[in-house]
Amino acid sequence: MEVSFSINGKIHKITPAAVPLDTSLTTYIRDYANLKGTKFMCLEGGCGACIVMLKGVHPVTKQNTSWAVNSCLQNIYSCHGLDIITVEGIGSKKDGMHKIQKRLADFNGTQCGFCTPGMVMNMFSLMEAKNGKVTMEEVENSFGGNICRCTGYRPILDAFKSLAIDADKNLLDACKDIEDLSDIKMCPKSGNPCSGKCSSLLNIEKNPMSFTFDDEREFHKVYNLEQLFKIMGTIKYRPYILIGGNTAHGVYRRSTDLKVFVDISSVEELKTYKVTENSLEVGGAVTLTEAMEIFTKVANENKNFQYLHEIVKHFDKIGNPALRNVATLAGNLMLKYNYLQFPSDIYMIMETIGAKLSLLSAPDDNLNPLNPSDFVNVSMRRKVIGKIIFPALDSEQSFFRSYKVMPRAQNSYSYTNASFLLKFNTNKDSVVDAKICYAGISEDLTHAERTEKFIKDKNIFVNEVLQQVFEKLSSEVHPDAKLPLAADDYRKNLAVSLFYKFILDIAPKNIIDTKYKTGSAVLKREISTASQEFEYIESRSKLYKKIPKVEGEVQCTGETQYINDLPKQHNELFAAFVLGDKVNGIIKNIDATEALQMSGVIAFFSAKDIPGINNFMPLCFDGFNYDVEEIFCSGKLLYHGQPVGIILAESFDLAYKARNFVKVEYSYEKEDEPIYPTIREVYKAKASDRLIDIPKYFIQAEKCGTDRKHKIKGHFEMASTQYHHYMETQQCVCIPSEDGMDIYSSSQWTDTAHVAVAEMLKVPQNTLNFFVRRIGGAFGGKISRHAQIACAAALGCYLTRKPVRLIMTMEDNMRAIGKRFSAISDYDVEFDDTGKIQKLHHHYIQDQGCSLNEPVQFNTSVFIKNCYNIESWDVTTQSALSHSASNTWMRAPGTTEAIAMTEHVMEHIARTLGKDPVDVRMANLTEDSVFKTMMPEFVSNVEYKQRKAEIDKFNSLNRWTKRGIAIVPMKYYIFCVGTMHGTVSIYHGDGTIALSTGGIEMGQGLNTKIIQVASHILNLPIDKFVIKPSNTLNNANDVGTVASVTSEISCFVIKNCCEMLLERLKPIKDENPDATWEKIVDIAFKKNIDLSVTFMYKEEDMVPYYVYGLSCAEVEVDFLTGNMLLKRVDILEDTGESMSPGIDIGQIEGGFVIGLGIWLTENLVYDQKTAELLTDRSFNYKPPGAQDIPVDFRIKLVQKSPNKFFVLRSKACSEPPVTMAVVVSFALRYAIDAARRDNGLKDSDWYTLEAPVSPDKIFLMANNKIQDYKLN
Ligand SMILES: Cc1cc2nc3c(=O)[nH]c(=O)nc-3n(C[C@H](O)[C@H](O)[C@H](O)COP(=O)(O)OP(=O)(O)OC[C@H]3O[C@@H](n4cnc5c(N)ncnc54)[C@H](O)[C@@H]3O)c2cc1C
Ligand code: FES
Ligand code: FES
Repeated sequence: MEVSFSINGKIHKITPAAVPLDTSLTTYIRDYANLKGTKFMCLEGGCGACIVMLKGVHPVTKQNTSWAVNSCLQNIYSCHGLDIITVEGIGSKKDGMHKIQKRLADFNGTQCGFCTPGMVMNMFSLMEAKNGKVTMEEVENSFGGNICRCTGYRPILDAFKSLAIDADKNLLDACKDIEDLSDIKMCPKSGNPCSGKCSSLLNIEKNPMSFTFDDEREFHKVYNLEQLFKIMGTIKYRPYILIGGNTAHGVYRRSTDLKVFVDISSVEELKTYKVTENSLEVGGAVTLTEAMEIFTKVANENKNFQYLHEIVKHFDKIGNPALRNVATLAGNLMLKYNYLQFPSDIYMIMETIGAKLSLLSAPDDNLNPLNPSDFVNVSMRRKVIGKIIFPALDSEQSFFRSYKVMPRAQNSYSYTNASFLLKFNTNKDSVVDAKICYAGISEDLTHAERTEKFIKDKNIFVNEVLQQVFEKLSSEVHPDAKLPLAADDYRKNLAVSLFYKFILDIAPKNIIDTKYKTGSAVLKREISTASQEFEYIESRSKLYKKIPKVEGEVQCTGETQYINDLPKQHNELFAAFVLGDKVNGIIKNIDATEALQMSGVIAFFSAKDIPGINNFMPLCFDGFNYDVEEIFCSGKLLYHGQPVGIILAESFDLAYKARNFVKVEYSYEKEDEPIYPTIREVYKAKASDRLIDIPKYFIQAEKCGTDRKHKIKGHFEMASTQYHHYMETQQCVCIPSEDGMDIYSSSQWTDTAHVAVAEMLKVPQNTLNFFVRRIGGAFGGKISRHAQIACAAALGCYLTRKPVRLIMTMEDNMRAIGKRFSAISDYDVEFDDTGKIQKLHHHYIQDQGCSLNEPVQFNTSVFIKNCYNIESWDVTTQSALSHSASNTWMRAPGTTEAIAMTEHVMEHIARTLGKDPVDVRMANLTEDSVFKTMMPEFVSNVEYKQRKAEIDKFNSLNRWTKRGIAIVPMKYYIFCVGTMHGTVSIYHGDGTIALSTGGIEMGQGLNTKIIQVASHILNLPIDKFVIKPSNTLNNANDVGTVASVTSEISCFVIKNCCEMLLERLKPIKDENPDATWEKIVDIAFKKNIDLSVTFMYKEEDMVPYYVYGLSCAEVEVDFLTGNMLLKRVDILEDTGESMSPGIDIGQIEGGFVIGLGIWLTENLVYDQKTAELLTDRSFNYKPPGAQDIPVDFRIKLVQKSPNKFFVLRSKACSEPPVTMAVVVSFALRYAIDAARRDNGLKDSDWYTLEAPVSPDKIFLMANNKIQDYKLN
């Protein structure tokens, strides 16, 4: 017996002898089928990197269906009879690309490209499922499960929306010039563009299957209840699991004790539905996607099921499409059954509407259906949820609504879910029955029972009654106060305000005061639009023109190689870190015996095995590295998650399993030594031993003003910092070589790892060969930290003499690796009536984490002035040492915090004076500031004043919905240190050219720009050039790819190389004016002219310069939930003469959206006692998603400002936009101020708005009072 399936048309058959039971589809595709296009990151359905398409026959309808799936959650043994389509299966560069791949590449929808195959396959599956006909709305709504950290989503959404049946004209116009049909893959059978429809397996026999594995575990696939209960009869007391969609283990990692796995996803009886006048019965194995389709159909056909439309809206917010395509109703309810604390949306809704669950313990069982609340108390041993019975509800008298309030627009846990059902008498003036249900409040509370009783027989549409209900409800709801959950007072108040929202929605419209009306609705996001304005200079060459990224196409076909795509090596071992978890504990002993006894576990290494220096931050990089940072902790544990060793095993899964069996014993120097998880705790405790003055970066006032009429003090907090969230986690592959070791490291700066590995192994540096072709995103996180990973993998390789692959999981990456430097500041400021600062003292502290390495104060203290006159400013600074991983540079390090701190002061002054913040900013500019003209022009272009007036009017008319607007200027200092090499080689055989620099492509478009420059200088077409990986032979000692400027530096070295070559070829060209390039190269070769050039950039080659920018954001906030909508953002950025406007716009959009993460959604929460990071998964750490970006996103490049200081008149642009995202926090403050005014507070009552300004904080800052929750 074999499990058979096809991958991209090729049949695969597997048996237990060859493939272990726990193998996921991702692992099979990558490691067995050797198709590396499919990527992975979170391994829990939260990032979308692993999405592929499945095709099969529906067990009930018998129709061929196709659906997207997170392959990391799909078990390979559940794929029997399915066709699996991966990114390679729909197109390739060689055989022709699929239209979706081509469109995404043409729209510059890729940067690092790591998310790209998942994006492509999600779109492909959507198109397939909808027979090629999707709307723009469907596209925008379908990417909630696909995270892209680079692009800011706009170009991805535009590319895919351009394929919609209702694609707007701008998008279609954009396609006209780019579509090249010759590149599109055609179906050999039909001659039409390939739609991957051919199936290899659709007619496979569907007989039950049973497999027993070597470890005596069993896997069964059944197709009907008879077969299912036959297996159930054999299980006895063994732990077992039923596989519906197999997604629950993405939420709670499943037990390793399970012995029997029974796949019920194709059991016909569990996949059906039946509708009668009074009920709808839906099978337990019906997926959420199927349920949504059934609900829509039934609701459309029967008015007493209209409430199902509400449920469909709610289901649309559960997880993401690829999850909903496989996750079943029964699986969700069993998750609640197994983990009562799980805030199941489905359980809550079932309880509200009075659904019943029909359980089966035999095929023909006829047990009484149970309420969900009874079901969680019965034994489910060897029972199955057969069906869920939905009642009909009289649509005239019953009103049902449900709500899901999340920190991010899609694919997120909720702060609180609520659903309400009220049944009225015929006059609608008395409640006959009430269901008030919540999830996410506490384990015990689903129904607010006392309130449900209280409400009965009352007329709820009377203010006084409503007040009593709210009071009752408030006294009944007691949320668990448990980190990382949001504040309990928020969740409690939210429970009440959602009920108020519900009442506003269902109350007779004529009794609601107009100012309360918008409170009844949830914020509705329109289809997003965007514009990109830049100068188009017809006469220019490829340089200065918008061109698609050079590797965009191979990224879209999945052909690009990242570190983990290197083929498996003979004898290869997988490494996993063992992480310490007792902060301040001194390691006494590490015992790996139990782990090493596991079959396939090869070795454990720790600090004592290191032959050389146990440090990954070589001290020769002085000015950057100050402290030794151990590769493996050898003494006192500095933070929770610090690596203490590595396990080496024969597979990735085994290495991660075995490391849990390594025991670390600690002793303690002192009892109760304080633990400071973050800067916040260091600051609060005023822990002087952990606060270090950095006088080098103090700024002293030159002269203070005398008009000090106003004086304020304030506090700024950006204490919850930001995880880099590169989609390719830290990884490294080390392979023994004849001269030492080849090291493939996901690195932004090989030099630092090169020195560190050599020092650690005590081997000559010239025996180590580093290679980096590209990395899957970095954002600063791989400047220094990769060295720890490279050292650990290299140690394993050195000691075992075997190849070692170290791929960090998301959790390890988040726990072990440092993040953005967070900041706290206090200021005293005196100013005149115009807001001009007369005297300022600003003291800021930055969180170093556990070491003083790579401080960012030199940036912060330069950028804190932003564009202002600082002659009266005193700035002092300290570094805080906390018990977290040593922080590291993250895109716009120090500068983001600096500009935010200063702009915070400007806003505070403006509020105190009651002036427009723009005027206060103008009053503080330096005399010669470019913003003196730039800011008023921008104010006028974005119609700030008119919009602000409209916003004020809107705010005065609406009690619960408010809008806000703000503008922020940005002046960014660009400089670079160190050296960098570039090489250009022309091949005499055909005149093609290879380029290489020390600059590493990580999505910023560096390769595209250098090809554009080379093509421009040598006057050759772009397809003459290719880029070769960076390596430590050609790029020895090169500076890291940092500070936005590496693209320009790489262009500078390539330009110089090309000019040198032109110089060498000039005599031949002069002698042969009509000769082709190829001929000239041939002659040069024959004359022994060197056709290879190397050039080195050095610090002195560049004069530092400034980049200027302005941003304006408008928001709308629902103050009954705290949710916000980013309605519009305008960004104006000076890019000099942009060498590649398409690339630069991508950098600006992507950078700004990373900044949005800081200010809106990303929150690192630590346990206060142990300093453990509690938000280390895709479930609880939320970078912005596709629906968190501005609804209207307008970018304009200032291009008429040639940069006279550096290469080809262009400017760097990738970090500056991050700093401008602070503008959203000020726009939110504007809206919050309006809400606070309505709640009786004054503008001058300044409050600290900590980052991220998430819905909980927005809500609590508004200070709503229940007494104001009225109808009229
Ligand atoms: C990324 C992600 C986001 C999510 N977001 C949300 C969310 O927003 N809201 C929410 O409520 N949930 C959410 N979930 C949870 C999700 O809904 C569940 O994982 C899913 O519904 C489980 O269904 P399944 O078919 O995959 O169950 P499986 O994983 O196959 O099984 C889960 C459990 O159910 C048992 N089981 C399965 N079918 C039956 C049956 N017919 N009878 C008896 N026992 C059975 C199994 O034995 C097992 O114990 C999310 C999950 C993920 C991975
Ligand atoms: S790896 Fe599968 S969704 Fe993230
Ligand atoms: S391009 Fe999307 S994560 Fe890098």
